[in-house]
Amino acid sequence: MEADEQGGSGELATGRYIVVKALEDGVTIMGLTRGRDTRSHHSERLDAGEVMVAQFTQLTAAIKIRGKAEIHTDVGRVDSE
Ligand code: TRP
Repeated sequence: MEADEQGGSGELATGRYIVVKALEDGVTIMGLTRGRDTRSHHSERLDAGEVMVAQFTQLTAAIKIRGKAEIHTDVGRVDSE
């Protein structure tokens, strides 16, 4: 397996990416765990204009975004408010 298929904690990181652009200060992005439990395992705070590229992995099944942001995914663009 290629090294870049491993996430930081050894989980497979071959999933799709999303791009989030914050449209205000204090936008938060939370990674939610895969499996029976859904808990937040990581959160990041973005200020206006900052962009984050995030990936779905074996650990991350869902991504929650709070605040005003542009969200670009394979299924299109949506704006959170
Ligand atoms: N732990 C849940 C799961 O693996 C995480 C999840 C996936 C989720 N998709 C979701 C939580 C949609 C809320 C909404 O299924």
